[in-house]
Amino acid sequence: MIANSSTSLSVDALVFDAYGTLFDVQSVATLAERLFPGHGAALSQLWRVKQLEYTWLQSLMMSPTQRREDFAAITAHALDYAVEARGLPQQGAARHRLLDAYLDLSPFPDVAPALAALAPLPCLVLSNGTREMLEPLAASTGIALHLDAILSVDTAGIYKPSPRVYQLAADHLKLLPIRIGFVSSNGWDVVGAKAFGFTAIWVSRAGAPLERHGPKPDAIITSLAELPALVGRT
Ligand code: LAC
Repeated sequence: MIANSSTSLSVDALVFDAYGTLFDVQSVATLAERLFPGHGAALSQLWRVKQLEYTWLQSLMMSPTQRREDFAAITAHALDYAVEARGLPQQGAARHRLLDAYLDLSPFPDVAPALAALAPLPCLVLSNGTREMLEPLAASTGIALHLDAILSVDTAGIYKPSPRVYQLAADHLKLLPIRIGFVSSNGWDVVGAKAFGFTAIWVSRAGAPLERHGPKPDAIITSLAELPALVGRT
């Protein structure tokens, strides 16, 4: 059964996805529209789709001769693909500005109040992003103040939804996966987290349908404002 926000989940720590869950990537689409009028939404959507697709493909292709590229490199390659696929000119300045926008995202307005209300429950970030992408972002937005750790998939050398990635958080917290609440707005990430054994909480920010493969989340919320009550912190 999927809990709703009036049901309490028992967890000893929370682990959050970064992009789209804590940090709003909409500003990238806004900038894309300014740089390429009429193409912003489609370009940024294709960019995100390709970015994720490349992470999954890289994880599958890994071999002694095939080195994994980090999320910064993959994000740049995905942008180049999306620009060409949309028939847009490859401009160095626009490329730089769009890639820089990923380093300067805003947190969703519900993030800081939720993290403050969750204290002293340990709260971590576990993201595909590199440390160089995540740490300055968390620091400049003030979100780092509420976090106990920021974990990058790079330590595991593979991308989500590999269980090796989710294991990083379990190892860091020294908790059984079931005692860890994993929070993501990405449906596929929630499926992966639940398959690993976490207590999985889907923040359905965009109202997307439930993924049709793998195990279902333990709870679905529409905003992080519902999270403290869901884990019994109010
Ligand atoms: C992350 C992507 C999946 O932060 O949003 O890991």
